[in-house]
Amino acid sequence: MTKYLVTSALPYANGPLHFGHLAGAYLPADIFTRHQRQKGVEAKHISGSDEHGVAIMLGAQKEKVDYQTYVDRWHKEHKELFAQYQIDFDFFGRTTAQYHYEETTRWFTKLHQEGLIETKDSQQLYCQDCKNHLPDRFVEGTCYKCKSEGARGDECPHCGTWIEPEKLIDPKCKICGSAKIEEVTVNQYYLMLSKYHRPYREWLESNKGRWRKTVYPFVDSLSKEDLHDRAISRDLDWGIDVPLPEANGKKLYVWFDAPIGYVSNLKQHLEESGSSDHYIDDWWKNSDTRTVHFIGKDNIIFHALTFPVMAMGSGFITPPYDVPANQYLNLAGKQFSKSSGNYVDAREALDKYGVDALRYYLINIIPEVNDSSFTWEGFEARVNNELANNIGNLVNRCLKFLDKNWPEGLPAECFSGFVESKEGQQLQDEVREHLQFLDRVQLRKGIERVMAIGQLANNFFTECAPWGQIKEDQEAAGRSIAYTSQYILVIGILLAPYLPTLSQKIVGYFGERVDDSSRQDIYLGELLALKKIFSTDLKLTSKPKVLVPKVELS
Ligand code: 2FM
Ligand code: ZN
Repeated sequence: MTKYLVTSALPYANGPLHFGHLAGAYLPADIFTRHQRQKGVEAKHISGSDEHGVAIMLGAQKEKVDYQTYVDRWHKEHKELFAQYQIDFDFFGRTTAQYHYEETTRWFTKLHQEGLIETKDSQQLYCQDCKNHLPDRFVEGTCYKCKSEGARGDECPHCGTWIEPEKLIDPKCKICGSAKIEEVTVNQYYLMLSKYHRPYREWLESNKGRWRKTVYPFVDSLSKEDLHDRAISRDLDWGIDVPLPEANGKKLYVWFDAPIGYVSNLKQHLEESGSSDHYIDDWWKNSDTRTVHFIGKDNIIFHALTFPVMAMGSGFITPPYDVPANQYLNLAGKQFSKSSGNYVDAREALDKYGVDALRYYLINIIPEVNDSSFTWEGFEARVNNELANNIGNLVNRCLKFLDKNWPEGLPAECFSGFVESKEGQQLQDEVREHLQFLDRVQLRKGIERVMAIGQLANNFFTECAPWGQIKEDQEAAGRSIAYTSQYILVIGILLAPYLPTLSQKIVGYFGERVDDSSRQDIYLGELLALKKIFSTDLKLTSKPKVLVPKVELS
């Protein structure tokens, strides 16, 4: 039986997470995992803090705290924020943990034995003013590919190019700001990607057709001709030691150890939870497992190129089934940036507007195909016009009417015939299509489909106008309410991966008659399950309340 190993990019323990992070990787991974589970498919969601690398060193140096204290703080903050946004992980670990050092060492040793790690002399940037080597994010300049400013020594956040730092235009030292940069020769350990070009291409091409149009062609063109070897060691004092005596304290490059974090964190999770599963045999290398990496577009190369080569070269794990990378989410058209004030505090927003409203809007603007933009006007309009009107009001109006006019319960006979009706059949088709969108990781289309079902339910309810029917024909009114209630239950169940709280509230009105197996049937588009659920008179478990408060921007 297929099972899913879902990972979301290990966030740098380096500053607050913003909506771009949430919509770009964590929310999609959470929805996808919940979706698989709702279908009855086993799934694990693994992530953790990425606690090495130059970005963290710069952050800690700026605050004048030691590196470990700095990452401890951000690890805790990130975990709390994820919990508030109901982004659930089976395990959220850390790359400074002993278990991660051990797993990383195992990988380095194996790749070294296999001849995929070698030492080479190379040119590196050096600041003549502050006398520091400048790997990765210690240097910034203009990107030689897309010509935008703010390209770092490791990648260009604008076009996603994996930067060769010596080629940056107008490089500047991020430590002291100097432009007096020179090239010096250093000896480093290299991942010999060039040796793996052929097997890599064979594997890559086997994914054509499944991967997104924003991912496959990008990696395809990047690797078509050849692959360049990449330095995976650094002369820094923060990171995992290159595990060789002659390495003299060199550290591993953060992008070597970070993706191994997915592996080490799963291992630790299984151990801590007392599972009898083996992390490699039962998961990473099991032929039933599909690994899906949720990431932002700046991480594509590392997940679709280097880590797969490390996976195949070591033989430790099977490379990923899918890498559904997202584009960028901007704030009102510009990049989120705390320092320049283009920023929204995700925690404050949550206190103000609640998790359902924020998750709803963020899901609708996941940058799946293009960059997208968060705006407060968009947030207000979408929540009020769609979630509150289309879903919240409908549930409220229909169930209140039921409660008022049939206080002893709506007779079971009123529910019959819905599944076979024109409306019921159309609903079944819609639910089945919804499933396919989520299977293909088209989450925006998924939620749009749920809202379209909400629209069908609204149309049905308005056309029947039970408030008029009840004056002449109590039975007809009862049937209208019973049919609308069935739409409502289906919507409540479909909302589960997106808005767990709202889903729970809606389904909760129907009480224990909705057991796990009928819930799963309905989610899978087997609407016959509704017959069993509504085979007895329906009395709500509680009085209907306002489910989606309207947003009022202050
Ligand atoms: O870009 C980032 O935020 C990285 N910390 C992502 C790491 S993903 C993985 F490989 F760990
Ligand atoms: Zn400098």
